Amino acid sequence: MKLCMIGTGYVGLVSGVCFSDLGNDVICVDKDINKINNLKKGIIPIYEPGLEELVLKNYKNKRLNFSTNLRDSVKKSDIVFICVGTPTKKNSNSADLTQVFSAGKEISKSINKFKIIINKSTVPVTTGDELEKIIAKKVNKKYFSVVSNPEFLREGEAIRDFIYPDRVVVGSNDKKSSKILKNLYSPLISKGAKFVSTNRRAAELIKYASNAFLATKISFINEIANLCEKTGIDVEDISIGIGLDKRIGSRFLRAGPAYGGSCFPKDTKAIVSTAEKFKINLSIIKSVIKSNNLRSHLLLKRLTLIMKNKIKNKKISFLGVTFKANTDDMRDSSSLELIPYLSKKGAKIKYYDPTGYKKEFKNLKNVEFSTSIGESIKGSDIVIIHTEWNDFKSINFKKFSKNKKLIIYDMRNIFSSSKIKKIGFKYFGIGR
Ligand code: UGA
Repeated sequence: MKLCMIGTGYVGLVSGVCFSDLGNDVICVDKDINKINNLKKGIIPIYEPGLEELVLKNYKNKRLNFSTNLRDSVKKSDIVFICVGTPTKKNSNSADLTQVFSAGKEISKSINKFKIIINKSTVPVTTGDELEKIIAKKVNKKYFSVVSNPEFLREGEAIRDFIYPDRVVVGSNDKKSSKILKNLYSPLISKGAKFVSTNRRAAELIKYASNAFLATKISFINEIANLCEKTGIDVEDISIGIGLDKRIGSRFLRAGPAYGGSCFPKDTKAIVSTAEKFKINLSIIKSVIKSNNLRSHLLLKRLTLIMKNKIKNKKISFLGVTFKANTDDMRDSSSLELIPYLSKKGAKIKYYDPTGYKKEFKNLKNVEFSTSIGESIKGSDIVIIHTEWNDFKSINFKKFSKNKKLIIYDMRNIFSSSKIKKIGFKYFGIGR
């Protein structure tokens, strides 16, 4: 099939590349000419394991192309995916849909035969209805169908998540489009993915409800971890003990710092805001947002206790600053709260991240980037493990530190506390 992806951010680029790998002809469109020129040279704008190889392979075999010309690309395609950003609006909690609607307007100028217009961007329920109205101003409804096909990719695991999804959700108000989409996804369905066909509004809500539910699970275990810390229990035992109940499930029960990234914080706020428009109070999701907003503060309070109220001039090695491992994404990472606070309190921080230097800390006092794990740990009083990169899981602390009183604060519970204690260092985890 001939596909066009509008927007080469996470969702557009990963889905476009994977669709081309499944044998479709795909054009990825973006306004940003530098991005497009770079992609043509195989320079990928994001860090995502496996993506570069797939871009190079499919660009070379000409199934994948890149363009800044939206109208021309839409004309050449049967299915058009809108994959643009839906950030939180300034001074509001709702999603800013400007880019979705402006893509819709542009598309409407290029419809020369029947096309399926798919919203893959995360959009509040009823956005598809509005998009349909915008396009219908220029084009007769018999020449297009607006469909919702939300994406469930995780950064850092995006290729795998695309190829082996648990489910493919297609929300369409016409059967013909749903059938075409089922055919497009048939290589994944034949490998075991469930195909969920709903009406358009339901698919839009499935996406928000999924993210809000996962955020709830994380906040739930984070709060249980707080109780574990006071009662001498290891939260890892609780995660195993409850997760084995199939009604609960073991995934997304890892306690840690506040959840971050470009989705959970934004989407939990947006679903609450959408519900308010319909006079519905999503009180559970509201508490999740509140709990997560308090999380960094709680972790800093514990850190202050661990350091016996002496943060000034303490040397801190901070490992991993992105919102989680296997990504270079800093959006809503809890490090953006933790590091500035510690810098303000007079700590001397050397941070290291496998994805390199981060401009976000450029203007902070006594915060510098280390080019290796060893350089960051050397001479430090405390090591904070903020993300769960594999690179951190086998650190030999003794090799890097001569400090016999070294403290390790493992915010992802990647080490066994008894093993660290055995080598003579003080260890603190989350919910332990
Ligand atoms: C999330 C969803 O997992 C995807 O299904 C969805 O497609 C995506 O948002 C989106 O809407 O685009 P992502 O934000 O990339 O994906 O990353 P996650 O792996 O879900 O992690 C989000 C946050 O939760 C991170 O800060 C992570 O460290 C935290 N987390 C996750 C935990 O603290 N504990 C867990 O057990 C799992």
